[in-house]
Amino acid sequence: MGPDGVQFYDSATGAPRAAAFVPLTLREADMSLNGFDHYLIKEIHEQPRVLRRIAENYAEPVHHLAELISEAYGSFLIGCGTSSYAALTGSYLFSRIARRHVNFAVGSEFKYQEHFLTDRSLVIALSQSGETADIIDAVMAAKRAGARVAALVNVPGSTLDRLADFSIHLGAGPEQSVLSTKSYTAKVAILMLTAHVLNGSEHVGREHLWRAVDGVEQALAPASVQRIQEIAAYMADKEHCFVIGRGLSYPTALEAALKIKEISYIHAEGFAGGELKHGVIALVEEGTPCLVFSPIDETRDDILSGAMELRSRGGFIVGISPEPEEVFDIHLPVADVGDASPLVGVIPAQLLGYYLALRRGLDPDKPRNLAKSVTVK
Ligand code: AGP
Repeated sequence: MGPDGVQFYDSATGAPRAAAFVPLTLREADMSLNGFDHYLIKEIHEQPRVLRRIAENYAEPVHHLAELISEAYGSFLIGCGTSSYAALTGSYLFSRIARRHVNFAVGSEFKYQEHFLTDRSLVIALSQSGETADIIDAVMAAKRAGARVAALVNVPGSTLDRLADFSIHLGAGPEQSVLSTKSYTAKVAILMLTAHVLNGSEHVGREHLWRAVDGVEQALAPASVQRIQEIAAYMADKEHCFVIGRGLSYPTALEAALKIKEISYIHAEGFAGGELKHGVIALVEEGTPCLVFSPIDETRDDILSGAMELRSRGGFIVGISPEPEEVFDIHLPVADVGDASPLVGVIPAQLLGYYLALRRGLDPDKPRNLAKSVTVK
């Protein structure tokens, strides 16, 4: 700073650098509650708009990401917390849609698994904030190994955005609640479209995404919200809740459990449906609420038999499914949207977390012990 104003310098070389000014596109409505009681419920309801925007405008970045994956000799999806569940969903989508093996690793664990990175590897880092220390660490390790880094990130100009060789900005708008909601569905939508581009079925991916936009709007409709409030009333005094899913619904079950536990403080755990018989089912007691994700796909018969196992031991079964089933004590209808089922299935869980927090007199935007961006390891 001097009489002539501010001079910028390159931190690596010390040479003077011209500043690139990027105009902020934030509107007042993006930052305010805009008539909602909390940022969380506002951001949950913004998801149809975010997904529509992706369906309409993301062909180019999605094609570029697909190209990077095609060129790579080994791709890795990494993320933390909710972003890790979006990444895990991505690994299932690439397998199921494009028959391509894209590895998954939790961001904080990646540095213990990065020995096989080469200069032909691709690391796809998912982060809403772009400042999560575990992800920045992992990306730095990837760059040291010569790997290329792509980012799915919601904050332009964030550390991850600047470190990545290629970034897809989620465009979800500011996410001010500590809980990640709209950035989660944005990441999953982009990964689903990318998988379909790799498979040469981009039109199918776009059609599924448009069906998911309608499905999310149905899941946010008053009748659905009222059903969720009834479930929240049942669960509000419970200490434990189990959430099961298989295949594409397994990461959805993990994300659903995180949504519930991090703002209601109920001990909610997500499990792969097939794991029940390997110990988990010992936990179920009379009346334990059990959320079961049961889309119309190859997992249905097996997940329903898991639900019967839970019910026979006293579990109270909440079926999140396009169709009712005898085994459900409560049926939460969701649209049948094929590969896009994670986008629709997660909505009831987001709403359930919100209404549980309200019933338990807790702040849905600022849960105890948590920060919006974990910039420490
Ligand atoms: C999500 O509800 C949590 N607040 C948390 O798990 C979050 O997803 C995680 O800390 C990763 O944050 P990021 O997406 O900004 O990297």
